[in-house]
Order: sequence, then structure tokens, then C-alpha cells
Amino acid sequence: MLYTNKDIYQDTNKILRNKSQDYSFPLQNHEKDELNAILEYIIKSVDDTLAKQYDLSPSVGLAAIQVGIQKRGFALHILDGDDNLVISQIFINPKIIAYSEQLTYIDGGEACLSVANEHKGIVPRYNYIKVRYYDLLGDEYIEEFTGFISVAFQHEYDHLNGILFYDHINKEYPFKVLHNTYPL
Ligand code: NI
Repeated sequence: MLYTNKDIYQDTNKILRNKSQDYSFPLQNHEKDELNAILEYIIKSVDDTLAKQYDLSPSVGLAAIQVGIQKRGFALHILDGDDNLVISQIFINPKIIAYSEQLTYIDGGEACLSVANEHKGIVPRYNYIKVRYYDLLGDEYIEEFTGFISVAFQHEYDHLNGILFYDHINKEYPFKVLHNTYPL
């Protein structure tokens, strides 16, 4: 099972505005397959050859709702500037349990596989988050993230609540930097 671009819902579809429901454990086999396929999509998406071969667009994250599954799960696969693996993981029923007062944002703005149009502007995110989540086996983890991983996590987490990145951009002053906010 492999998702491709044709499986990804666009923001023209109202489904992306729905709030996703928690998974129940133990997961059903099809649920595990779907979550693995979500991670597989983004892993393959950053390989030029595979991306072309399977019709994938490069991304660091993908949420279940983006392929039409209204359940609280997403995957992140992030490489650093030297192509070293930073994180490659599925997050199930995640919750942000603590966060910093300090905000950050990606200088060039954010993008999303479900958003075709460009939306320029600052998307403020917590620079630090502490999260709780479950893996495919239902084991619970608590972890802390900062910087880019924190931003990517919050982008995917928003999808579970029907929120898209451009909802956070100030309509009148898209590039206005708030106090306590620093670029990544
Ligand atoms: Ni997105």
C-alpha cells in the first residue's frame, strides 16, 4: 500500500476542516497499514527518483486526515542539511502537554501537501513543546522538541483539529513579527 498525490485531499475539500477522532488500541491491521503508508509517503517523497516514479511531492510531514482518514495520527520524516536523519516517526493520539512562551517561525513561510496556493506570511509556532503520544503498539511516550521539529509537529497536529497553516497568518499584516517571536 502506497499513497500518492492523487490520494491527498486539497484544502478545497471541507474534510480537512473536520476534527479527527482518537485511535483506539489495539489498532486494527488496516489502521497500522495506513499509518505506515503515511510515513512511507514522506520517506519516499524526499528521494527525487522515487518521488517522480510514484508521483509524490517532497514533504516532512503528513497527517491521516490528508488522505481522508479522520483519526488522530501523523508522521514526520526530517533530514538535516547534510541529509542525516533527524526524526522519522509515526505519532498517534498526540497531545501537546507543555510549550514555551517563546515563539518561532520559518523564515520562508510554511507549505502543505493539501495547499496548492502560496500563502506568504509568518506562522507563529511554539519554539519548544513537550508532547505525549502513542506508537503503533500503543506504547506511550513523552518527548520534548524544539526548533524545526517543534514547528513541523505543530503543523501536523493542527491538521488533527481542522486547522491549516495559513489560518495563523495575520490577514492585515502577514509579516508583522510579534514580541517574543524569533525566526528559526
Ligand atoms: Ni499540512
